[in-house]
Amino acid sequence: MDVPHKALIFTDMHITRAGETIIGLDPLARFEEALAHALARHPDAAQILLLGDLTHTGAPEEYARLTSALRDCPLPVAATMGNHDLPKPFAAAFRNDVDEHGFAQAALDLGPLRILLLDTFDYDGKAKLGHDGWLCDLRLAWLEAELARAATEARDVVVACHHPPCPTGFWAMDAIGLANGDALLRRLRSSPQVKHLICGHIHRTIMASADGLPVSILKSTCHQMPMMLGGGTSADSVDEPGAYGILLSLNGAIVLHSEDFALSTGDISRYA
Ligand SMILES: [Fe+2]
Repeated sequence: MDVPHKALIFTDMHITRAGETIIGLDPLARFEEALAHALARHPDAAQILLLGDLTHTGAPEEYARLTSALRDCPLPVAATMGNHDLPKPFAAAFRNDVDEHGFAQAALDLGPLRILLLDTFDYDGKAKLGHDGWLCDLRLAWLEAELARAATEARDVVVACHHPPCPTGFWAMDAIGLANGDALLRRLRSSPQVKHLICGHIHRTIMASADGLPVSILKSTCHQMPMMLGGGTSADSVDEPGAYGILLSLNGAIVLHSEDFALSTGDISRYA
């Protein structure tokens, strides 16, 4: 068995200004707990991905608190935008993650695996509902070019982005999903290199398939979506354990774990 290539994925941290909480929870404290938990247990990880909604309102102070929490992180960090982020403060805080067009997307190698971090923020107000996502022609063209490059290099691809392109059963969240998700899925399904799609946004652990493509949605590190399928609003939240993802490229397989960090002390017992 080969040693796995490993990436740690955090999404929907919703960092607030100092002294502010979300349903009584401190998002920065929760993220710091998640990061410390992940780094202590996975020192062999090679990459950290942040899948959007890094902050709650996009305020520069919120990004400053997040970058401060990441200052001593020993791993490279790649971040993309969520609907709670704002482009200018994001770009100021994560300038290395923004390309020449202003999009927070990147092609990253995890051993033999290519990760395409895709920016689904609605920069042009195309989607109309304010919190839904949109992929413009420039970003879809970038995706097509990267998929063609992965094909020439015979690399498997995992795509990671904030907004899921498929329904989840949470109607209020589905209403603010990726508004042109069909355009994304059409491109992903046309490439045999694409093996898995990983998203955030819903604040719930969800396994799905979209037009036959496996899709995994990770929990927030902070507040979660209550299990109220078909009801509620996008702002409904519940204090359940936060989680982070552990992505493995292992002997040709792609594996994604969801770890509820607040539930695990790390103490291991063995039953008789
Ligand atoms: Fe979120």
